[in-house]
Amino acid sequence: MQAVRLRRLRTTNNIRDWVSETQLHPKNIILPYFAVEGKGVKEPIKSMPGVYHLSIDNLLKDINEAQKTGIRAILLFGIPKAKDNRGSQAYKKDGIVQKAVRTVKKNFKDLIVITDVCLCGYTSHGHCGIIKGKRIDNDKTLKMLAKIALSHAGAGADFIAPSAMMDGQVKAVREILDKNGFKDVGILAYSAKYASNFYGPFREALDSAPQFGDRKTYQMDFRNSDQALREIKQDIDEGADIVMIKPALAYLDIIYRAKQKFNIPIAAYNVSGEYSMIKKASDAGKVKERDLALEVLTSIKRAGADFIISYFGKEIGKWLC
Ligand code: PBG
Repeated sequence: MQAVRLRRLRTTNNIRDWVSETQLHPKNIILPYFAVEGKGVKEPIKSMPGVYHLSIDNLLKDINEAQKTGIRAILLFGIPKAKDNRGSQAYKKDGIVQKAVRTVKKNFKDLIVITDVCLCGYTSHGHCGIIKGKRIDNDKTLKMLAKIALSHAGAGADFIAPSAMMDGQVKAVREILDKNGFKDVGILAYSAKYASNFYGPFREALDSAPQFGDRKTYQMDFRNSDQALREIKQDIDEGADIVMIKPALAYLDIIYRAKQKFNIPIAAYNVSGEYSMIKKASDAGKVKERDLALEVLTSIKRAGADFIISYFGKEIGKWLC
């Protein structure tokens, strides 16, 4: 006779649910948005089925829907009118992100608005920093990132998310925010961001693919995990409030290690390529979108992520009820 029968805990749906150890909840999901200039724009992003370029009026409508599904936080990206060598549209007071943040915060007081701070969507060469010849100049880029962060905070952002993977970017952002009276604006740091092949669809959305070389001199090498912990530690020391690991699904080990080691909220970015793979496989009738997406997102939570940045955002609340 067998005394231990683990199958007892799997007998009915109700029991399985009752003993489940990991709960996915829309309040832990951060929904990314791509804001564009204009009015009435809702342009599908081909590489990311179900994701759109939205003008601010449509952004408000979409956020209204998202909130009904339980979403509490958004991550905002902007597509500027024009790009140049230095990404100077990125810190304009009437830039697309700044306008979007002001309008969104006016309409949704409780919504947590996080802004991505980087240059790749704003530079004509598509790199995340200021270039000198073929090199990315770390310290010149820090000054630009700080300037962008300040303009986002001035517009009303709750959290700034520096994403260029420059050394010292969290410190640079923290210092300028503190100096200008934005002590309460938080930092969600893209801490362990890998040079990943999963970013392809996003680069199409932002038209931000590097025009020469790649991002391997600033984003992390996917063969490393100790180094990810050093990146995270450094960002915590520089004042990050939340740290992020990106991508998520191919990096569950990093999420797990970070959760064991650090005592800080951890976000994981389930990136565009990870999203689109599920979408395209389900469109081709190969998998069930809902079931696979919930399995993937739950695994990210189970590994230790407190927050998940996910393009499935609005679906999750609907799927779970
Ligand atoms: C770069 C940035 C990237 C993403 C967000 N910000 C990656 C890159 O182009 O190197 C990717 C997000 C995604 O793939 O969903 N600042």
